[in-house]
Amino acid sequence: MMTRSAVLAACCGLLLAGHAAISAADSVSTDSSRVQWPHVTSPVPADAATEQKIAEWLARMTLEQKVGQMVQAEIRDVTPEEVRKYHLGSILNGGGAFPGNNKHASVADWVKLADRFYDASMDTSGGALAIPVIWGTDAVHGHNNVIGATLFPHNIGLGATRNADLLQRIGEVTASEVAVTGIDWAFAPTVAVVRDDRWGRTYEGYSEDPEIVKAFAGRMVVGLQGTAATATFLDSNHVIATAKHFIGDGGTDQGVDRGDTLAPEQQLLDIHGQGYVSALNAGVQTVMASYNSWRGWKVHGQKYLLTNVLKKQMGFDGPVVSDWDGVDEVQACSKDKCAQAINAGIDIVMVPTQWKGFLQNTIAQVKDGTIPEARIDDAVARILRLKYRAHMFDKGRPSSRPLSGKSELVGAPAHREVARQAVRESLVLLKNKGGLLPLKRKSNVLVAGSGADSISKQTGGWTITWQGTENTNADFPGATSVLTGIRSVVGKAGGSVVYSADGEFTRKPDVAVVVFGEEPYAEGAGNLKALDYVSPGDADLQLLKKLRAAGVPVVSVFFSGRPLWINPELNASDAFVAAWLPGSEGAGIADVIFRNASGGVNHDFKGKLSYSWPKHSTQLALNRNDRDYEALFPYGFGLTYRDRDQLGPVPDQSAPME
Ligand code: BGC
Ligand code: BGC
Repeated sequence: MMTRSAVLAACCGLLLAGHAAISAADSVSTDSSRVQWPHVTSPVPADAATEQKIAEWLARMTLEQKVGQMVQAEIRDVTPEEVRKYHLGSILNGGGAFPGNNKHASVADWVKLADRFYDASMDTSGGALAIPVIWGTDAVHGHNNVIGATLFPHNIGLGATRNADLLQRIGEVTASEVAVTGIDWAFAPTVAVVRDDRWGRTYEGYSEDPEIVKAFAGRMVVGLQGTAATATFLDSNHVIATAKHFIGDGGTDQGVDRGDTLAPEQQLLDIHGQGYVSALNAGVQTVMASYNSWRGWKVHGQKYLLTNVLKKQMGFDGPVVSDWDGVDEVQACSKDKCAQAINAGIDIVMVPTQWKGFLQNTIAQVKDGTIPEARIDDAVARILRLKYRAHMFDKGRPSSRPLSGKSELVGAPAHREVARQAVRESLVLLKNKGGLLPLKRKSNVLVAGSGADSISKQTGGWTITWQGTENTNADFPGATSVLTGIRSVVGKAGGSVVYSADGEFTRKPDVAVVVFGEEPYAEGAGNLKALDYVSPGDADLQLLKKLRAAGVPVVSVFFSGRPLWINPELNASDAFVAAWLPGSEGAGIADVIFRNASGGVNHDFKGKLSYSWPKHSTQLALNRNDRDYEALFPYGFGLTYRDRDQLGPVPDQSAPME
């Protein structure tokens, strides 16, 4: 049987292929006139004095300087000297890029490099204007490229907390750790509303439902940037935020990363657009364009969406930044040439490696009239507006700023406490047969499973490296694994802990805590064809069964970037906790699954699913409010210690794909 979306894809792919002969730049959807995108009155209004200054600057800039402001290169492929020479407006470090290519770069190394780029941008010796360069980084679950930083649960776990106040606090902590390293800008929050969990970026989204994304996006923006129209706004404790990826990233057909979102325009607004309404309301200063297409056209080349909708109708007056080589996705563009994207409304072009060619080609395209100079002026005005609002012209060198170099703030105990609270609140209890949880501290506990002592597994993708792979516990100073947390509570109470990844024991334990789940991945590398959870050789399931057969009660703690079909593992567990990708504070798990020292509940479960959990392995796009909704655990589900769990055996034959 063909799914509805497959039918659409088959039919409309053909239609769109025919349509491609027309014009890419202005592709306006046919139903656009019926959809009313809300106008958001920004709490960061344009002010006449700044606009006057921007006009004066623009009048003094050469075309080369203007286009340079629009170009964003990556630290592995650009030197400070080149930033000076080509007047580059911004730089970034992608996942896995560090000062001096040193994964263990210190805070001082980051600040020193920030100083070098800043100084280069402020060098007026060649007659250029001094316009401070800004540096962006993917601080998507804390300042995750930096060794020792506080790492929060990925967004899927935060969605389960339902705690918007906590989100804001997480934004504040993240901003301060970013500021310590002399960096100005976080490429966060991701406000994707994820509709098909095969998508490799499912965990970057707070929810499958716009309700939570809308409630959270603005609060995260306020946390990162400070409160608009107050003295905290983009002060030295805060950084520029980015709402990403505009628009429809979580809605691609079959969950394919960078795929095609077929949603009609009303759904684009009602489902995928709500995070932007929320972020713009909080005064977000940048928006990142999305790799995906909307109805056959790459968003990076869609003037209708970037200019008509986002800038004109919604009223966004900051820069739209393209995604990493996102210009290359546009039909008829390449990594070093894409007038379509600029004409569509991209203002800052993230061209990590091919930036020099891009710069030269763009200058030529302005000279030959392919790109109107007015478009360039508008882009540069938006960039300068951002730099004024972020106080870049009077913040001084990165190393002179109040937080910079304060390495004691990176992974500070108070910051880790916020992350640990987030871990506790993100855990969703799916099964608790016979009230096995909470466990007594004074027990003989077997801790098993490949995730029990793996901080790499518990932090997932976008952690130090892009994919989150190639990290060992030694790369996480100050962090705790689940095992560390359990040892600490059980040890203090006089119980005992035996750790054996494959579940071997000599003396029968009172209980086994088995921690397992997905290996780290990021972006398309995490795309799946099916949602059955399978560990190599089915080892995890065999481990659970082996313990059960030996009469040991089993608590499963499952790390995953999405709900997966785990019915066999559920049946083989007495208690089952969906722990998502909790980050650096693994000890937050013991806080909840163990009783307190006097035997009472220490912390109850608070997490509620922000994604529906499938009952059948064939449920690939399963979302709240679907017709014929049949989840195993519906959106909003999550047991507490006051609940008596009634879950019996669940069907555990994985249905063949149709
Ligand atoms: C991702 C963005 C990220 C950018 C910079 C892209 O591949 O889609 O989310 O901000 O890279 O690392
Ligand atoms: C990704 C970026 C990432 C970079 C790391 C790119 O392919 O799109 O997001 O930061 O690789 O090398």
